[in-house]
Amino acid sequence: MNTTTAQTVSPSSSPSTALTATADTPVKVAVIVGSNREGRFGPVVAEWLLRRVRGHEGFEADVVDLAEVDLPTSLSYRPSAEVIAELAKVTPKLAEADAFIVLTPEYNHSYPASLKNVIDWHREEWQAKPVALVSYGGISGGLRAVEHLRQVFAELHMVTVRDTVSFHNAGALFDDEGSHRDPSAADAAAKGMLDQLQWWAWALRGAKEVRPYGS
Ligand SMILES: Cc1cc2nc3c(=O)[nH]c(=O)nc-3n(C[C@H](O)[C@H](O)[C@H](O)COP(=O)(O)O)c2cc1C
Repeated sequence: MNTTTAQTVSPSSSPSTALTATADTPVKVAVIVGSNREGRFGPVVAEWLLRRVRGHEGFEADVVDLAEVDLPTSLSYRPSAEVIAELAKVTPKLAEADAFIVLTPEYNHSYPASLKNVIDWHREEWQAKPVALVSYGGISGGLRAVEHLRQVFAELHMVTVRDTVSFHNAGALFDDEGSHRDPSAADAAAKGMLDQLQWWAWALRGAKEVRPYGS
């Protein structure tokens, strides 16, 4: 048993007190912007999403923009100094996060290689944490990318929340200022998804305070 962690729950504490305490602390959520393509549309959706996350009580948001990280596709147990410097831009943010929101476009019926690359460069940083999925694309709205990501995240011991937000033919949905032309349905979907993400983040954080996750 990890005695340090065990000491955080005093003999008088019940699991319900631990869960109450954890709900009082903001959920640190890392919003991962998955597209790094030149001329990408991703930042428009990312801005929309970040406004919803920051407007939802109880979240503390940080952004991991994959266009700002240059990780090689060849993985290494002995990364070069350059690669260590690139990892330093992303790994601490993933490690500190209680929860994730992955924003993905759809490329050829799946999610982009940039996302798979950052996922594969990490392991423990993902484990026993919830992830919500927001997607955009052409006619499919990125839903095929989302379903592929669910399979990958299950392998990493993550919980994908059930509800998603998807933008079909995304380019036409936002005006030149980046505002959604008809936001009510998307706003409601975001609220439901964020509520679920928060529930899972509280539940898993509280559970890990009582018993470390063993994978
Ligand atoms: C390589 C590539 C493949 C694409 N494949 C699909 C697809 O399979 N289904 C779809 O609905 N949209 C597809 N699209 C459209 C993108 O989802 C859409 O352009 C989206 O805005 C791309 O995100 P980004 O601009 O942030 O990179 C594709 C776009 C690219 C560049």
